[in-house]
Amino acid sequence: IHTMYLYMLLACVSWVLESHSAPMKIVSGSTQDNHTAVCAEIEKELMADNVTYKGSFERPQNTSEELCYGKFIEGFISTLNNISTKHKNDCHIQKVCKNMRQLTEICPKLKLTGHNCITEKSNFSKFKEALQSVVISIEGWKSCKGIKGIL
Ligand SMILES: *[C@@H]1O[C@H](CO)[C@@H](O)[C@H](O)[C@H]1NC(C)=O
Ligand SMILES: *[C@@H]1O[C@H](CO)[C@@H](O)[C@H](O)[C@H]1NC(C)=O
Ligand SMILES: *[C@@H]1O[C@H](CO)[C@@H](O)[C@H](O)[C@H]1NC(C)=O
Ligand SMILES: *[C@@H]1O[C@H](CO)[C@@H](O)[C@H](O)[C@H]1NC(C)=O
Ligand SMILES: *[C@@H]1O[C@H](CO)[C@@H](O)[C@H](O)[C@H]1NC(C)=O
Repeated sequence: IHTMYLYMLLACVSWVLESHSAPMKIVSGSTQDNHTAVCAEIEKELMADNVTYKGSFERPQNTSEELCYGKFIEGFISTLNNISTKHKNDCHIQKVCKNMRQLTEICPKLKLTGHNCITEKSNFSKFKEALQSVVISIEGWKSCKGIKGIL
């Protein structure tokens, strides 16, 4: 009788937990698993950021090389990370950085790394331009999750 009680109690608790967390999952699922939405957010944050940083920044030479996007994004994140470490009050750069990391989780394609991925030094405007161009291109991808089964 005791075991039976415990079992029913557990079933009840897990039912309550499930029914409470289910709507949250749906809400967060739509933006968090949606590469289109994440890319749109990155573009919005880049637009909102009006600061031009001085210095030299590594950017892809050819932003059309999709096989290199994994490598390029690694570089973008590293650069953005450095900027936000130095300028802690730039919330836009921090959000872009976070969203870029999220993109690599959503899109398995971004874990592939091609070779001959050539980068060059540039100023901040050119760096931002390249970042935007890569993100716009990823936004246009039909799906990001779909490729997972192949890998
Ligand atoms: C992904 O986000 C875009 C833009 O916010 C939206 O139009 C689209 O319906 C979303 N797709 C899914 C599957 O949630
Ligand atoms: C940049 O935007 C912020 C608000 O987001 C504003 O306070 C600031 O004056 C702007 N700076 C320049 C140089 O436009
Ligand atoms: C950039 O890469 C694309 C895709 O690999 C290629 O078709 C194009 O010719 C390259 N452009 C230059 C200038 O190398
Ligand atoms: C980021 O900063 C570290 C330490 O200062 C440096 O070694 C690294 O090259 C920087 N990365 C980029 C992409 O600027
Ligand atoms: C950045 O570099 C490009 C050429 O590489 C130049 O046309 C542009 O004026 C520069 N922008 C700034 C803010 O220095």
